[in-house]
Amino acid sequence: MCGIVGAVAQRNIVPVLIEGLRRLEYRGYDSCGVATVTAAGPQRVRSVSRVAELDEQVRTAHFEGVTGIAHTRWATHGAPTVNNAHPIFSRDALAIVHNGIIENYEALREMLRAKGYEFVSQTDTEVIAHLIHSLYKGDLFAAVREAVLQLAGAYAIGVVHKDQPHVVVGARAGSPLVVGYGEGEYFIASDALAIAGSANRVSYLEEGDVCEISLEGVRIADRAGNLVTRESRDVQAYGGYGDTVDLGPYRHYMQKEIFEQPRAISDTIPALDEAFDPVLFGENAAEVFEGIDSILILACGTSYYAGLTAKYWLETVAKIRTDVEIASEYRYRESVPNPRSLVVTISQSGETADTLAALKHAQSLGMEHTLAVCNVATSAMVRLTEFTFLTHAGREIGVASTKAFTTQLVGLFILAVTLGKLRGHVNAEQEAGYLKLLRHLPAALNGVLALEPQIIAWSEEFARKENALFLGRGLHYPIALEGALKLKEISYIHAEAYPAGELKHGPLALVTEAMPVVTVAPNDALLEKLKSNMQEVRARGGQLYVFADADTHITSEEGIHVIRMPEHYGLLSPILHVVPLQLLAYHTASARGTDVDKPRNLAKSVTVE
Ligand code: F6R
Repeated sequence: MCGIVGAVAQRNIVPVLIEGLRRLEYRGYDSCGVATVTAAGPQRVRSVSRVAELDEQVRTAHFEGVTGIAHTRWATHGAPTVNNAHPIFSRDALAIVHNGIIENYEALREMLRAKGYEFVSQTDTEVIAHLIHSLYKGDLFAAVREAVLQLAGAYAIGVVHKDQPHVVVGARAGSPLVVGYGEGEYFIASDALAIAGSANRVSYLEEGDVCEISLEGVRIADRAGNLVTRESRDVQAYGGYGDTVDLGPYRHYMQKEIFEQPRAISDTIPALDEAFDPVLFGENAAEVFEGIDSILILACGTSYYAGLTAKYWLETVAKIRTDVEIASEYRYRESVPNPRSLVVTISQSGETADTLAALKHAQSLGMEHTLAVCNVATSAMVRLTEFTFLTHAGREIGVASTKAFTTQLVGLFILAVTLGKLRGHVNAEQEAGYLKLLRHLPAALNGVLALEPQIIAWSEEFARKENALFLGRGLHYPIALEGALKLKEISYIHAEAYPAGELKHGPLALVTEAMPVVTVAPNDALLEKLKSNMQEVRARGGQLYVFADADTHITSEEGIHVIRMPEHYGLLSPILHVVPLQLLAYHTASARGTDVDKPRNLAKSVTVE
């Protein structure tokens, strides 16, 4: 992960670099730093706090410069200490920022030690700094081109050298890097968003590219060393930044994003005449969809749970066999490829390293039909797949996924009904029914959001707990999984989810009076079974916290706390039921005083494996 930004200008560039870091914090926030370069050498400020604190430090120190690089880190090699924070120096002449992992760093470190280089950090980045320094003969662009040929692994870097105080050199392989073009000033960044506003146009560097930005302009060399041009686009194509950062009446972005779900879902539902039309996924989707005989879903984390939910829909509505795999497992295991399978990747960011690698792995096995359900139109995943369904959640800033998840579910439900129609399993009446459910969804969600005060009351009790169990059955088991993930990642309460029928096969041993058991209770065909599982918990003294559809008639009694949801919402019920679980996690974390939008050790975009 990590975010990098660099700039060459004729004005003090530090505020632009700091603003860039603020926008890149979604890539990691263990530590951060900024360096500017003068003929006397690079100078830097680093912090193990957040970018806001780094900003304070540079202001207090009147830290300025016309050429600089900056970094926000998600630690891989070496703890998040000031000493390991980037920019990393080599012999007070060169400074580097790095995103990625260098796999051969141990061999390179030995080679560089033999040449007399001393290592003062635990980072793999320091080997790149010394390597470039050792190859520098007056031309940083040339030294970086030579150095990257010796690197194995993934990297995006930005480098400055005291002997060329108006030059920044960047390079990428496996990690993204863009070049930004402003008025007589130039930039590099991990994401166009970081420099939108200062740059008017951006170019994406390709694998193996090395670039040099200076006051004279931009030079780009490909892996073979040939000077090349890369297509540039208007930075507006990457979306604005300003409006999305305004918190409005909310305390955290996560809360704001939970409440944005009715809007996000209504933006994601296609126009009436296009609903359930294969063209929604791409030009010749109808032809390809007709030829497929199964689905393989690949994703990580919350997006994986969206995939698990979709399996129920795809097998029920479209009667198509669906397998769902965790991307980081699939990419490394031996599997039996089916060229007639449609590979569906689900990702908010479209940059998740494991999901991208799993997609490429599936493609390498001959599965050429691919579809991305993704929230970022310009992402690598969208560029790599044959078809796309774009969710219109808008920018999600909170690390914990909320509106991205529910809009993914909408996209996947539309896929299930579209395939069901093509395969002759959905008639016109059913189609109209599904459309009606979808169209009413934003209003139904508003009804669930109105339960917030009751959920806040529960969260005060949850805030004092250290463990929680989540139960669901069938279509709502993935929702229980998602509820447990939300709670653990932002409140740090240990939470596990089980299909309710599994309880007696082990986890029931954990149930005591101290154990809250959150139960997702829709009024579906499994309700009576679920009620029996709830009794198993009550008989052991466990405290049940039940989100029950109004028509289940489950009511509060000794040891059973109930929040009444609206009436059962049919196949789309999971989209309603996840919302109170998001709110419960949010308010519990808030009551515990954690950093809700930036939970410890995590990052929004997981671009390392
Ligand atoms: C949890 C969460 C993560 C992501 C996962 C995949 O709240 O957000 O589990 O879902 O890292 O990220 P994307 O969807 O960007 O591929």
